[in-house]
Amino acid sequence: MTQLSAAQTGTPGSSSGGKTLYGGKGSRRITVRDIALAKERGEKWPMLTAYDAMTASVFDEAGIPVMLVGDSAGNCHLGYDTTVPVTLDEMTMLAAAVVRGTSRALIVGDLPFGSYQEGPVQALRSATRLVKEAGVGAVKLEGGERSHRQIELLVESGIPVMAHIGLTPQSVNAMGYRVQGRGEEAAQQLLRDAKAVQDAGAFAVVLELVPAELAAEVTRTLHIPTVGIGAGPETDAQVLVWTDMLGLTGGRVPKFVKQYANLRDVMAGAAKAFAEDVVAGSFPAEEHSVH
Ligand code: KIV
Repeated sequence: MTQLSAAQTGTPGSSSGGKTLYGGKGSRRITVRDIALAKERGEKWPMLTAYDAMTASVFDEAGIPVMLVGDSAGNCHLGYDTTVPVTLDEMTMLAAAVVRGTSRALIVGDLPFGSYQEGPVQALRSATRLVKEAGVGAVKLEGGERSHRQIELLVESGIPVMAHIGLTPQSVNAMGYRVQGRGEEAAQQLLRDAKAVQDAGAFAVVLELVPAELAAEVTRTLHIPTVGIGAGPETDAQVLVWTDMLGLTGGRVPKFVKQYANLRDVMAGAAKAFAEDVVAGSFPAEEHSVH
């Protein structure tokens, strides 16, 4: 009997590096089916944002299985104050770079504000650009019940969708940056939003800034994985914005961020050392010169 390869069967198997999402070294990209199987196994997994090819290649080599080209690029990469001004052209350019810099991670491209709120057809047109021009394997959009028609059409059209509920930064002008789902009524709305995106066909859902107990309840209730950010330890996956996680973002860092390095200090120190060498005439030295 002909043996099917792991890539053909769609299981992570040997081609994507063992049975777990994190830590494997595979010859094919992670798919949304691998993500579903991880939920069945009860496996937790990490997701990081990425906005450029070089950073993404570092995370890919480190075994991060899912990367989000988030519209947090607005604040963390493009110099805007919020995510609201980010355009679909900008997201397409950044997502294409991240796809080029990676070979294993599933790349999820964020649909920016204004690119899907008009309705399902606009969402499909925008998502199609991210899939065809940037090469992403899935898209993300914000909203629960209010976005379920968009999610349905994208999924029917063959585009996997990661939903995003709780705090939705594109609505900052309406909701601010506040914890969501506090109190019975708000908790019930969050549960309805979670079920709505699952019923619409989303393969995963981001829960941003919601009480840990509520995130745990949503995680137990859904059969699709939950991806937490500021949502406690019980979600199936955790996501952080990479510039927060590595200490590159300036200013106040949210309570839910754990900083694993201080790149801002490292980079500033290196830049000053270079400047001082140049001013003192000690760079370039003989070994940096060509003759
Ligand atoms: O844009 C983004 O980076 C996000 C994450 C915070 C989930 O939406």
